[in-house]
Amino acid sequence: MSTRLTLNGKAQALQSDPGTPLLYVLRNEMRLNGAKFGCGMGQCGACTVIVDGKPVFSCVTPLGALEGRAVRTVEGLGTPQRPGRLQAAFIKHQAAQCGYCIAGMIMRAQALLDKVPHPSDDQIRQHMQPNLCRCGTHHRILAAIRDVADGGKA
Ligand code: FES
Repeated sequence: MSTRLTLNGKAQALQSDPGTPLLYVLRNEMRLNGAKFGCGMGQCGACTVIVDGKPVFSCVTPLGALEGRAVRTVEGLGTPQRPGRLQAAFIKHQAAQCGYCIAGMIMRAQALLDKVPHPSDDQIRQHMQPNLCRCGTHHRILAAIRDVADGGKA
């Protein structure tokens, strides 16, 4: 039995067991390694992807719950050659230190900007709260998001 969903704009029939966490399906079945395993308990945000417009922790989201839904990962935003606006802004502001949290950070920020294109600083801070960065690059992450929110080409 397969699970049918849209992944980065393409219809897919995924073969993993429906109880498998989406994070493992993305990384192992689809070879999309942007989302990372941090805590596995919905507490760090390294695994964040967008499902039907909302940021979700893919480590605690079973594949079976995603039938018919639309999943977006960091790979859907751009390529190394042609990064998307947020990806380019994160590069411009050098928002990564170790980089482990960054795909999740970008996807959480993307979900906000899709809904609220010009958020206030408070809205950005509040929205980004569930995602942790142990290197402490928060100021740079916020600057990158601000850049896109202000309409900069980044
Ligand atoms: Fe999913 Fe930490 S790995 S929230």
